[in-house]
Amino acid sequence: MFIPASTKPSTSLRPHSSGISENDWTVLSRFWYPIAREDEIGDTPVAAKLLDVDLVIFRSGDEIGVALDRCPHRHIRLSAGTVVNGGIRCMYHGLEFNTAGQCTFVPSMDPGAKLPASWRLTSFPVKRRYGLVWTCLARETGQDVPRLFREEDAEAGKLLFVKVRTWPVSAARQMENFLDLAHLPHIHPGSLGGDPNNLIKPGEIEHTGDGIIQRAEYIEVPFGGTPREVVFTYRVVLPFAIDFTVHDPNSGDQRTCNIPSPSSAYECKVFQFSIDTRDIDDAHSSVLNGLDIINQEDIGVLQHLALPDLPLDARHEIHLAVDNITHAYRQRLREFGLGQ
Ligand SMILES: [Fe+2]
Repeated sequence: MFIPASTKPSTSLRPHSSGISENDWTVLSRFWYPIAREDEIGDTPVAAKLLDVDLVIFRSGDEIGVALDRCPHRHIRLSAGTVVNGGIRCMYHGLEFNTAGQCTFVPSMDPGAKLPASWRLTSFPVKRRYGLVWTCLARETGQDVPRLFREEDAEAGKLLFVKVRTWPVSAARQMENFLDLAHLPHIHPGSLGGDPNNLIKPGEIEHTGDGIIQRAEYIEVPFGGTPREVVFTYRVVLPFAIDFTVHDPNSGDQRTCNIPSPSSAYECKVFQFSIDTRDIDDAHSSVLNGLDIINQEDIGVLQHLALPDLPLDARHEIHLAVDNITHAYRQRLREFGLGQ
C-alpha cells in the first residue's frame, strides 16, 4: 500500500513484475526497436510497451517524443492525456512537457515562476526509419537501427505496411517461426502452397557481422496459383529483424522486412513492410493481404505454444535437419550473453 519512507526511487527501468530476467533485459535494452508506425503518431498520444516498459509517444510539430508513460507529478498515464502545442499535457493537473521531456508549463503556478530542470519525464532517444518510430531504452547503446533495405531502394519505392499485429509469443519465437522452412506446407498450404509430404532440404547458412543469412529453394503455389520455383533469402539482423527476399527468376524479387518488437517476455508487436517500385495498387493490396493471411495462420499455431521461453540449450527440444537455422540463431543469441 505504501512505498516505505526509507526506499529511494528506483533507477532501474525494468519493472519488478517483468518476465524478462534482469540479465536478459539489460542485454536486450541496448538494441533499437520499432514501437509504432510514424503515421500513427498524430494529434493524440499513443501508448506502447517495450521490454515490459510502458511508453508514451507524442508529436510536437515535426518532432516526436518518447517517454515513460507516467507524469512524474502524480503518476497518471500521459497516454490518457492530450497533445498540445509544444508537447504533451497530463489530464490530472495540466502539467505540460516538451518532446525533450522537460516540464514547460504548470497551470496552477505563477507563470513567472522558474520550473526546476529536474521536473522532467524519463525520455528516450527517437529515430525515424522505414516509416517507423524507433527507440532504445539503454543510456549507452553502441547499436543503431538495423540496416534492412538499402537506402536507395527505400527511396525508389513505396514502403507498404502489413497490418500490425500483436503475437502471443516472444520476439525470438516469432523470428524462429519466420525462418522455419519445414512448417510452410503444413500451416500455409493455401497461401504459400507446397506438399506436406515433400522433402525439405535445410537452407544454406552463412554468418555475417550483424547476423545470419539463410538461403533455401522452395516450390511455392501462392494462393492456388501456378507453382513456381523460388529462392528464399532470409537476412537476419540480430536480435530481431529479418530482410526477406523471394527470388523468382521470371518475375523478379519481392522483399519483405519482418521486425518483431519485444513488448514483453511472451508478446511481440510485429512490424512488416514490403517495398514495391512497381506502383500497382492492386498488386500491393494482394501482397499485403497475403502476408496478413500467412501471419494469422502462424498466430493460430503459435497460440498453442506450450514452452514460451526459448531454450538456448539444444537438449530441451528435438531438432530436424532443416532446423540448422534455429541452431545458428540460438548460438548468436547466446553470444550476446542472453539466457545466463
Ligand atoms: Fe509460417
